[in-house]
Amino acid sequence: MKEKLKNIKEQALAALSAADADIEALRIKYLGKKGELTAVLRGMGALSAEERPVIGQLANDVRAAIEEKITNRAAELKAAAQDMKLAAEKVDVTVPGKEPRRGHLHPLTKAQRELEDIFIGMGFEIVEGPEVELDYYNFQALNIPPEHPARDTQDTFYITDNILLRSQTSPVQVRTMEKKHPPIRIISPGRVYRSDAVDATHSPLFHQLEGLVVDKNITMGDLKGTLELFAKRMFGEDTKIRFRPHHFPFTEPSAEVDVSCFKCGGKGCRFCKGEGWIEILGAGMVHPNVLRGCDIDPEVYSGFAFGLGIERIVLLKHHIDDMRLLYENDVRFIKQF
Ligand code: PHE
Repeated sequence: MKEKLKNIKEQALAALSAADADIEALRIKYLGKKGELTAVLRGMGALSAEERPVIGQLANDVRAAIEEKITNRAAELKAAAQDMKLAAEKVDVTVPGKEPRRGHLHPLTKAQRELEDIFIGMGFEIVEGPEVELDYYNFQALNIPPEHPARDTQDTFYITDNILLRSQTSPVQVRTMEKKHPPIRIISPGRVYRSDAVDATHSPLFHQLEGLVVDKNITMGDLKGTLELFAKRMFGEDTKIRFRPHHFPFTEPSAEVDVSCFKCGGKGCRFCKGEGWIEILGAGMVHPNVLRGCDIDPEVYSGFAFGLGIERIVLLKHHIDDMRLLYENDVRFIKQF
């Protein structure tokens, strides 16, 4: 019987060492009610009184040894399974990641913000006006008489006889002066509309930035100083500006303003078509009729106004030769700026 117990122990331990699953089946096989150890113990009745405790002790030792082996082997298998799972789930943090594609602001928006920053730096406030505008603000109050060619349906999108899509940001001048008494120092960026066919330099929708300053003793010198500082900030410290006489119904005197070519510095190149100068905006001293219409006394107050096309600035700054590229939203183009 001793021999048998020894065999059971050896076999069980060997089987457990080799087992990589189903330990429970082995437990039942060796230690279960119908197991091999139990079978041996059943035969104990036939033993002598001296032998019984010896064999009993031995059987207990065998059981304890097998139980211990079961516990250990189960722990080993569990650890191995855990290791395998961890290995399978391993993340290699050194593998280069997939970089998400990141967009950026449209060049027009960027230019608008740059313009805003420059004028905010000079103490201007930003105001907005409606894109669907009354004839009164877009034309009448700006001293534009009924016969003026800008009022032609060829040039302007009408909604009714009295309501239209604003053709310029200048109506915001009037809306501002109606609401607020001088001192006034505002800029107003936004969309404007003209009934133009699309080509390299025209679009029925484009963007302007209006400026207006009204106070006591505002002169053309203030206008020049303001625009000069703006030009230097926008196009570089060496930039000069030049005023050419012009006509706008709502300013008197009026001027078209050029900046020295920022490509050749004014010598004349292909970019400025040999001129050395590039036209960028319209400006002038606010017409007394416009001030009067807003209940501002032109004997006491004076002001200047200017308006520039934001697209034009973007095209010039980035040497883009076709305005349509700004609206087509082709990422291959847009992502360059
Ligand atoms: N509104 C004018 C235009 O669209 C520009 C301008 C604004 C001129 C303000 C003078 C003063 O052409």
